[in-house]
Amino acid sequence: MNEHSATAAGGTAKVREKVRLRAAREADAEVLAALHRAAFGAAGWDAESIAKMLSVPGTEAMLALRAGEEARSDPCGMVMGRLLGTDGEILTLAVAPGLRRRGIGSRLLSALMAGMAMQGAERIILEVAQDNAAAIALYERLRFQVMGKRPKYYAKGRKAPVDALLMAHQFNCGCGG
Ligand SMILES: CC(C)(COP(=O)(O)OP(=O)(O)OC[C@H]1O[C@@H](n2cnc3c(N)ncnc32)[C@H](O)[C@@H]1OP(=O)(O)O)[C@@H](O)C(=O)NCCC(=O)NCCS
Repeated sequence: MNEHSATAAGGTAKVREKVRLRAAREADAEVLAALHRAAFGAAGWDAESIAKMLSVPGTEAMLALRAGEEARSDPCGMVMGRLLGTDGEILTLAVAPGLRRRGIGSRLLSALMAGMAMQGAERIILEVAQDNAAAIALYERLRFQVMGKRPKYYAKGRKAPVDALLMAHQFNCGCGG
């Protein structure tokens, strides 16, 4: 995906954050891992795992960088996904804790989805923990709908396992998505 500028708007306080999005590659694995760790703590992925995922054909990642900064100096969000045939899958999405509710997550996800659609994706699927209200709200806003559940799917770093919701966004469904 090409580098482009975006002005992200959102948040209850309606703070606007200027972010630039760019494709991320295996060389960015450390940066991606740092963002992932900051968002997921003990369940965060390490750079080696991320580099391995990125080496799988069809896997893409994007970084959000605060506008005006050097390309790798101030990363504030990341998304990873994989396109297999006409199915796109969101592997992960994370925004730096201090910069949430400013539209960065939506921008990242929308950009990755748009790229997958251009490459032939007919739908995008993902899994999200049932107790992750922030992520579920974002996904519903981007017209993802719950299509199933995986019981007790998330256990790492938790006192008790939590179900995963399977959500899907259908392109060209005639519902405006
Ligand atoms: C989920 C996450 C990526 C959202 O990123 P973000 O940049 O804060 O999201 P946005 O600012 O684009 O939010 C877009 C909309 O989603 C919804 N939303 C986002 N965070 C929310 C929250 N904490 N509570 C309720 N709604 C929320 C709102 O509708 C919001 O629009 P609004 O701010 O105008 O009301 C971020 O909270 C995060 O990194 N969480 C930890 C990692 C994670 O859970 N990733 C998802 C794994 S499946």
